[in-house]
Amino acid sequence: MSIRLSSGKEIPIEMHKARMVQKISLIPVDERLKAIGEAGYNTFLLKTKDIFLDMLTDSGVNAMSDNQFAAMIKTDDAYAGSMTFYEFADAVEDVLGYKHVMNTHQGRAAEHLLAKVFIKSGDVVPTNYHFTTTRAHIELAGAQVLEIYYDEALKTESTNPFKGCIDPQKLKNVIEKYSKDKVAFVRLEATTNLIGGQPFSMKNMKEIRQICSENGLMLVLDGSLICENAYLISQREKGYENKTVAEIVKEMCGIVDLFYMSGRKNTSVRGGCIATNNKELFDKIRPWLPVYEGFYTYGGMSMREVGAMAVGVREMVDPSVAGCAVEQIKYFVNRLAETGIPVVTPPGGLACHLDAMKFLPHIPQSQYPAGALAAALYIASGIRSMERGTISVDRDKEGKEIMADIELTRIALPRRVYTVSHMEYAIDRINWLYKHRDLVKGLKFVFEPPVLRFFDGRLEAVANWGKDVTEAFKKEIGNC
Ligand code: F0G
Repeated sequence: MSIRLSSGKEIPIEMHKARMVQKISLIPVDERLKAIGEAGYNTFLLKTKDIFLDMLTDSGVNAMSDNQFAAMIKTDDAYAGSMTFYEFADAVEDVLGYKHVMNTHQGRAAEHLLAKVFIKSGDVVPTNYHFTTTRAHIELAGAQVLEIYYDEALKTESTNPFKGCIDPQKLKNVIEKYSKDKVAFVRLEATTNLIGGQPFSMKNMKEIRQICSENGLMLVLDGSLICENAYLISQREKGYENKTVAEIVKEMCGIVDLFYMSGRKNTSVRGGCIATNNKELFDKIRPWLPVYEGFYTYGGMSMREVGAMAVGVREMVDPSVAGCAVEQIKYFVNRLAETGIPVVTPPGGLACHLDAMKFLPHIPQSQYPAGALAAALYIASGIRSMERGTISVDRDKEGKEIMADIELTRIALPRRVYTVSHMEYAIDRINWLYKHRDLVKGLKFVFEPPVLRFFDGRLEAVANWGKDVTEAFKKEIGNC
């Protein structure tokens, strides 16, 4: 939610109060330089004791509600037939409108099962944009991801309210080129993660549904961030101004054949699920659940998390939950844009994204500007962000580097965790870094894993630039 002050200024406002907190600390810049060096200039490899604001992700790090904690205590622990699972299934039916649901231990486990059951070698999967784990599972199954967004999607600075749409003409072209037999399914990702949390419109969703129906294709929704997409539809799409997030979410779910999500985001727990009203599709997946995840009534999750997820599914469509990150991101992005920082616009869900190629135009893409910016931001502030650029794209089969479409440094806003003063601190340090951007140079790999290299890869700073940023910071701001 946001609130208008008497001055006319709008600020995000927390519709919750903190009743349990975790102490955080800010280690001096000297120690931050040491920590990022030990982490191989990869923010994934930092330890949380060295992190001030952990804005790496919104996944599995949101604040749960009092009712979610209460549900965890009341959980019915059983290997099979737990009533907690049936409470979760009821919540899914009430909120998402699906009769059939199974848990998975997280979102990528759902992707694994879908790839196993629905993808054959040589297939294609058209999508608005891939997510890293989605692409890995599709490619491991021998298929190819085809991104069929409108060209505007890759323009980081834009006023287009729905950069996450699929271009319907491109979908028709794919069907013609590859034939519908080769299209495993069409995938829509709500608030497309890797292009800056950008939503698609309901109008677009319906157009894509129409094309899928005409061609007998299955439409799959990755709803990991469905509530943010619905919240943005209510704010931006004509005809939806007076609809609630709950109504929009249900309408979105009714359009697709199959839904899956990482529960680590919207529901603030550590798990995932697959849901549908199509029993035939469900029954194709179901036999594999106990093989890879666990028995049907827990699917690899702890029962306590299933209990918290049952509550989380109901709470996630409350506008104060669905809009919590969106309003903070709007504030964050607008304040940075005002000060001339190259940031992805319009603001979306999930995070504030810096355009690293514009922030650090002197660093060639082969030296990973978004990774360098994430490391530099950590040195200058203790804030942990995430590289979402070329490091996040694995090499091709011949070992050739694939340059990312855009180089983003993602500063995520976990739900109900950080406040406006935290964002003001981040804005200040990002501005300081922007003034000293010439000091930041590129990165090079010293250890590179063969798959999803961004998680565990180690890099070093070209010409040891981390030291130069640290010295400048100490001179101007101090060893703080
Ligand atoms: N799909 C989307 C759109 C996601 O954002 C994620 C995870 C997944 C699938 C995989 O789900 O992590 O539960 O296995 N995104 C996290 C992130 C990791 O930081 O953006 P998972």
